[in-house]
Amino acid sequence: MSSRTSDVLVIGGGIIGLATAWRAAQRGLATAVVDPEPGGGAAQVAAGMLAAVTELHYGEETLLALNLESARRYPGFAAELTELTGRDLGYRRSGTLAVALDADDRAHLRELHALQQRSGLAAEWLSGRECRRLEPMLAPGVRGGLRVDGDHQIDPRRLAAALVAACERSGVVFHRAWAERLDVAGDRAVGATTADGTGLRAEQVVLAAGSLSGRLVGVPDELLPPVRPVKGQVLRLAVPPRYAPFLSRTVRAVVRGSQVYLVPRENGELVVGATSEELGWDTTVTAGGVYELLRDAHELVPGITELPLTETRAGLRPGSPDNAPLLGPSGLPGLLLATGHYRNGVLLTPVTGDVLAHALVTGELPEEARPFTPRRFAAVPLEKLEQPA
Ligand code: GLY
Repeated sequence: MSSRTSDVLVIGGGIIGLATAWRAAQRGLATAVVDPEPGGGAAQVAAGMLAAVTELHYGEETLLALNLESARRYPGFAAELTELTGRDLGYRRSGTLAVALDADDRAHLRELHALQQRSGLAAEWLSGRECRRLEPMLAPGVRGGLRVDGDHQIDPRRLAAALVAACERSGVVFHRAWAERLDVAGDRAVGATTADGTGLRAEQVVLAAGSLSGRLVGVPDELLPPVRPVKGQVLRLAVPPRYAPFLSRTVRAVVRGSQVYLVPRENGELVVGATSEELGWDTTVTAGGVYELLRDAHELVPGITELPLTETRAGLRPGSPDNAPLLGPSGLPGLLLATGHYRNGVLLTPVTGDVLAHALVTGELPEEARPFTPRRFAAVPLEKLEQPA
């Protein structure tokens, strides 16, 4: 069995693991990532909405603060990544319009608007006519909406590719293999072993394996992160140049209780998402899922039936018990977590990379990330587990 050594080993090369590895390498840590396909994972499916304001939910005010902080960091993060790699990320500050199709939807949106206002967020109520003036392709029946210019978008596939390139340029080593187990010695995480038996040794290990994080062999049962897969089916359509601009910003709604959103990219791609299904590890694209998305999107924007349907795909969000991520020291010395980002993985990528790098260098979470310590889920106070025997 061969063995390789680094300061930091990141298990999982999705956008969260890559941002963590990039920022750690920038801090001078010799960093490696283990993943069979770096840049893959849920980012290959995600629409890339940076929707801190339009995806606000009751009871998630603490998460809102982290979401807003990450949104605030996005311009600098995207500019730095583009400057380093020469890659366009599809970062588009064109805003979001959340609309209502009937009286129930309207009441729901009014409630959301009140919550946004109480939280000090910028959102403007528009009549149906004003919504259609902004987006002429909207259905005539739209009853009103919320204009949120601060909710932007990025293309997660381009983001993932740019992060791989940034890691390579920063000296991150990629081990293109599955981490089969976490290795622990003397009550400390010391690395991971890949499927072919290679031992990857590191001073510190970051578990950033998305929905798979909850089942890595070798992590003590009581410290396994409580993440679960939440399936999302997503469609991609193409807007032919003769229809452009089909939509000028993200348009979304809740239709009969289900979220539907349409995210128009500058390159003509139109992403339509997403289902939310608690079906374990299933990533089947179903006729029912595609039907419901198209039916709801068609109610919002009838003209979509003219567009070529270019892709259907399902991904797995890493859901956590409180819908917020688990960041920082896990309770097992040498093991940190960066997982459980649920619906906000793309939005939270910049702040996650920063706070994990800070925790790797200092051993502490910075102020803005403290509410997201994995300790909040511990049955036994983790301080006790961390004390040397
Ligand atoms: N944030 C969008 C989704 O999870 O579907």
